[in-house]
Amino acid sequence: MATLKVTTLLVVVMLLPLLTNSIQVNVDYSDPRYDKMLNTCIDSKNHKVKPGPEDKLHNQCSPWKRRSCCTHQTTHDAHHTKMYNFDWNHCSQKKNLSDKCRRHFIQDLCFYECSPNMGPWTVKVNNKFRKERFYKVPLCASDCTTWFEDCAEDMTCTDNWVQNMEWVPGLGNRCPGNSSCHTFAEIYRTSKNFCETVWDHSWEVKDDNQHCMRLWFNSSIGNPNDAVARWKTVQIFQAMKGGGGSRSVTWSSWLSAVVVVAMTNIFARL
Ligand SMILES: *[C@@H]1O[C@H](CO)[C@@H](O)[C@H](O)[C@H]1NC(C)=O
Ligand SMILES: *[C@@H]1O[C@H](CO)[C@@H](O)[C@H](O)[C@H]1NC(C)=O
Ligand SMILES: *[C@@H]1O[C@H](CO)[C@@H](O)[C@H](O)[C@H]1NC(C)=O
Repeated sequence: MATLKVTTLLVVVMLLPLLTNSIQVNVDYSDPRYDKMLNTCIDSKNHKVKPGPEDKLHNQCSPWKRRSCCTHQTTHDAHHTKMYNFDWNHCSQKKNLSDKCRRHFIQDLCFYECSPNMGPWTVKVNNKFRKERFYKVPLCASDCTTWFEDCAEDMTCTDNWVQNMEWVPGLGNRCPGNSSCHTFAEIYRTSKNFCETVWDHSWEVKDDNQHCMRLWFNSSIGNPNDAVARWKTVQIFQAMKGGGGSRSVTWSSWLSAVVVVAMTNIFARL
């Protein structure tokens, strides 16, 4: 009789972590850190302090106007100036960037300047222009493929434009000394390699059926990337609360419960 009671008690005690674990995976949406992660702009040269609506954003950046980290001026510059002194035409002796390729880089720049969804992928950096950057943002494979295909016959001299360019003070980037210009198709081979390498792993290519970002969207039906950021934020919060290993904690508590119950039964019989 006594053994049965002890056993029952122990089982209940050992099941408690299991119950609390399943409670913990719920995210506290009132936590200010949750809002901060979902409604934030990176700390960088042109970004606003917080996302907000804009009356008008220029051309390809207009989808973000309901909630954006960019101003109209920034989106105008993204289309018409050499932002950050970075020259896409670094192989101009052979070929300037084609219009169809260029529009993808403008779209990418709009995303960079305007997106309010980058909180979960923001990391600190030590750079003249910016204190934070994106890292491994999931990009939908089909967006990456059209970008690469439209640039396949354009020219570049190095795969990683962040790490490998030479910088001439006041002038901007130029091809590294021992490089030569080749087509994107020759330099990158695959769309995945292109998207992930060109901006030094700002992007990570994911299948379209996974949670991934869209560079182009119809803003009248909302920004589809909001949901991707919410998904990632919930993941990050769950990992923080569960210590990243809630399942293994659960299994170990099960295992210790079994061991303790067995021992109790053995000792009770002695
Ligand atoms: C690329 O553009 C620059 C500046 O407009 C021009 O000087 C150069 O000739 C162009 N290159 C080619 C290959 O057309
Ligand atoms: C330039 O050449 C050197 C020596 O061959 C090599 O180590 C280096 O990686 C090259 N730089 C670039 C940017 O390709
Ligand atoms: C955007 O979505 C709206 C509403 O569904 C639709 O009426 C409009 O034609 C779409 N625009 C484009 C460019 O697809």
